Amino acid sequence: MAKLTIDDQEYEFPDGTSLFDACRQARGEALPHFCYHPDLPVAGVCRLCQVEVEGMPKLTIACNTTVRDGMVVHTRSERVNKAVQQVLEMHLINHPVDCPICDQAGECGLQNQYMQYGLYESKVPMAAKVKKHKAKVIGPYVILDQERCVLCSRCVRFCNEVTGTGELGIYNRGDRAELDVAPGVELDNNYSMNTVDICPVGALTSRDFRFAKRVWMLKNTRGVCPGCATGCNVRIDHEGGRVYRLKPVYNPEVNGRWMCDRGRMTYKELHDERRLLRPFAGGREAAWTAASVALADLLRDGGFSLVVVGPRASLEEMFLARKLAPADAVVGGPADLDRGEGDDLLLDGDRTPNRGGLKTLGIPEPAAADLAARITAASGPVLVLGGEPGRDAGVAAALAGCGGLVVIATHDGPSVQAAAVALPGAAWAEQAGVFVNRQGRWQGFAQAVARPGAAREGWRILAELAGLAGVETAPQSLRALRKEIVDTVLSEGELDMDRMPETGFVPGGGER
Ligand code: SF4
Ligand code: SF4
Ligand code: FES
Repeated sequence: MAKLTIDDQEYEFPDGTSLFDACRQARGEALPHFCYHPDLPVAGVCRLCQVEVEGMPKLTIACNTTVRDGMVVHTRSERVNKAVQQVLEMHLINHPVDCPICDQAGECGLQNQYMQYGLYESKVPMAAKVKKHKAKVIGPYVILDQERCVLCSRCVRFCNEVTGTGELGIYNRGDRAELDVAPGVELDNNYSMNTVDICPVGALTSRDFRFAKRVWMLKNTRGVCPGCATGCNVRIDHEGGRVYRLKPVYNPEVNGRWMCDRGRMTYKELHDERRLLRPFAGGREAAWTAASVALADLLRDGGFSLVVVGPRASLEEMFLARKLAPADAVVGGPADLDRGEGDDLLLDGDRTPNRGGLKTLGIPEPAAADLAARITAASGPVLVLGGEPGRDAGVAAALAGCGGLVVIATHDGPSVQAAAVALPGAAWAEQAGVFVNRQGRWQGFAQAVARPGAAREGWRILAELAGLAGVETAPQSLRALRKEIVDTVLSEGELDMDRMPETGFVPGGGER
């Protein structure tokens, strides 16, 4: 352990701790910085994190220094503040200061640090600034403004060290130095938009989010990406019932600080034109009351003869769906649908968020041909929810021939088209729930935006179906349902599903 003094207070840190991290803990906030990033190798190029260490003639950069026993460090002295101001001024010499039209405004390291340390009059008139490329498309998702770049090299290190794809580099020298893609190359890897997150200024911005919304107008809700079985933790940025973007949320047990581009785009499905907004009964749009009458008629002789619950349903929906038919008549699947190519970083070949839930509840997943045969052989009403099994042609044909099909869906599709009664359900950002990821980790998500049209929470629809099917133990609230899940699946009291741990919960893993 090293004992040192930071800003007149004594601290103790394990040997090898970076002085940058030590100062962050001591101050309760990070030192000014552009190039330091906790998940990238140290570059030490921006010179912003300078601190005064007694006994050293010059100021030193904290990100490239480790703590030493007996060190006396000053982070807020006049000398340090002056140095930070000078370095900031240097970074701003050729900066275009086009904050009003910059998507980064409101979450920009340069803006924020200028407000804290700068506040000087620029000595360089706009006309004398070096001009570089603005709005240069460098990949399917990312656009580059070279004038705004502070050459921190975070994006370069990300592409070299995290994805190993090496598309970016810093070319030329002095005030002509600029960030760019290598000649003939595009920034096109599964994780390219993480460069937008880590760029401390508005040099790399998202083509998708470009000019869509001022960031200070967005509200944030924590969620879980529905794009694959990894279950990356996300922040859903939304306003006025519309989701504008997903950003990764740090979870050291699941996704660290990254997420893939494919996952970021999953929010688009929430607002697409295929959303099912009203119930349908007998091929016509119907009110919920009319749909309930049709359902009561369908279920008058008892429950469902087959329930097909897909891996996009929440754990709560899966648990309730299990009550609607005998155990051997509740299946998932098809097991061979929603598969793609995974990679070594985060993206899983299973492109659904809750196959882990099916596994947890012991719901088997037949292959498409077997599922089609089960549907064809069903002697009474069939319920489909939690995905679109009809994307398999054989299953679609079986569903089309099914007389008493009830579907809970977020989007129109072959199942809805074949249904006697189709009911609009809430999508992942429109209701609370739990997904179980590929590690078996239970991860909770909250409702971010209002449900569109007449869509309802899946568990409420299933509770109503349970009532109509004569199931006596249908829960009356989400809380009651969750308690029943915990009591059935876990040891009693092991988890409060309304207060899920931030990093998720692995049954038997000792995590609370
Ligand atoms: S584009 Fe952004 S992340 Fe990349 S070097 Fe420039 S400022 Fe840093
Ligand atoms: S790796 Fe999977 S869970 Fe993570 S962001 Fe991508 S699609 Fe979503
Ligand atoms: S953060 Fe230390 S030199 Fe950039």
